[in-house]
Amino acid sequence: MKISVVGTGYVGLVTGTCFAETGNDVVCVDIDANKVKKLSSGQVTIYEPGLEKLFERNLKEGRLHFTTNLAEGIADAQVIFLALPTPPGEDGSADLSYILGVAEQLGKILTDYKVIVDKSTVPVGTAEKVRAVIAKHCKVPFDVVSNPEFLREGVAVDDFMKPDRVVIGTESERARKIMGDLYAPYVRQGNPVIYMDEKSAELTKYAANSFLATKISFMNEIAILCEKLGADVDMVRRGIGSDERIGKRFLFPGIGYGGSCFPKDVQALVKSSEEVSYDFKILNAVMDVNEKQKLFLLPKIEAYFNNDLKGKHFALWGLAFKPNTDDIREAPALYIIEALTKAGATVSVFDPEAMPNVRGVVGDIVTYAEHQYDSLENADALIIATEWSVFRTPDFDKIKSSLKNQVIFDGRNLFEVSRMQELGFHYESVGRTP
Ligand code: UGA
Repeated sequence: MKISVVGTGYVGLVTGTCFAETGNDVVCVDIDANKVKKLSSGQVTIYEPGLEKLFERNLKEGRLHFTTNLAEGIADAQVIFLALPTPPGEDGSADLSYILGVAEQLGKILTDYKVIVDKSTVPVGTAEKVRAVIAKHCKVPFDVVSNPEFLREGVAVDDFMKPDRVVIGTESERARKIMGDLYAPYVRQGNPVIYMDEKSAELTKYAANSFLATKISFMNEIAILCEKLGADVDMVRRGIGSDERIGKRFLFPGIGYGGSCFPKDVQALVKSSEEVSYDFKILNAVMDVNEKQKLFLLPKIEAYFNNDLKGKHFALWGLAFKPNTDDIREAPALYIIEALTKAGATVSVFDPEAMPNVRGVVGDIVTYAEHQYDSLENADALIIATEWSVFRTPDFDKIKSSLKNQVIFDGRNLFEVSRMQELGFHYESVGRTP
């Protein structure tokens, strides 16, 4: 099938590449000429494990093309995916100007029937708006479909190639058939393609992310309670997770969720609720808990250093909001850096992928260590903010000999408490009392 993907950000690039992988002919369109040039010459513009190999293969075999010209990019396409940014506006609601802008242009240039697909996470009612904007200018039949993505950064290629489910929101039989054919190779193992009306599809995406964020904030509050009551959150997590109704996944407490999706989507759903005069109480609490959780380690650090962090020096491992990505949007590490430097401390940071991005945001207010162990030199304590695999089995002797004090504040519960005690560390984590 011939398809176009408008927007070559994270979602667009993964979507385009993965559609090419099953033999479709894909043209990706972006207004950023520099990006299009890089992509056309074989340079992948995002960090996503496994993407490069697929990208190179499909580019080489001529199934993946890039252009800045929308009319040219969509001319032969049967399906046009919109994978455009929907940043939060000042009031927290999703800003649809990119999507509606492209919809207007499409309305002016469509010459035959096409399916236009909202892939971006958009509030309920967006497909309706896109349809209205296109229809204003368009003289040929078209369908607008909501097809939300459920890709996790770091495993996006796998999530795309083997989705748990594909959600397709449309009431058009014609569009339904085309979308079903397009996704058939991805659900061969029997996972469902769930057809529904477009509003339900739009809400499904927000409900999924908000539910997952709720799970995390809930566990983070359980972790707080564990510390106060002397229980161990690892045990509680395993105890409840083995109930299939609860599930083992997404129950890990930590220093809060971040990234480009959960914070934005929870806020947008609260905003959408307000617009229909509904106060979504649970989600307000989820956001509130998460805000506080990002600085969960701070009182522990302050208490250890008698509320005086002035002149103290910290090593910080992990900057990305989660492992296997260089994404630092809403990353707890940034909040920790801000709090520590404000209190007069200095910080030496290390992250396998995210340091250039952090440098772009905070500049030289921290020092960037070339190696994870370099960051420890003369540090009063080590703080861990992201659970990268390389941090899981570190050389504890090296840590001990480099740190000034044998102190670790772990925001991701990487190590067994008893082991750390044996090794002689003062070790503090989330929801596990020594
Ligand atoms: C999330 C969803 O998982 C995807 O299904 C969705 O498609 C995507 O948002 C999106 O809307 O585009 P992502 O933001 O890449 O994906 O990251 P996750 O792996 O879901 O992690 C989100 C946050 O939750 C991270 O900050 C992570 O550290 C935190 N988390 C996750 C926990 O604190 N505890 C857990 O048990 C799991």
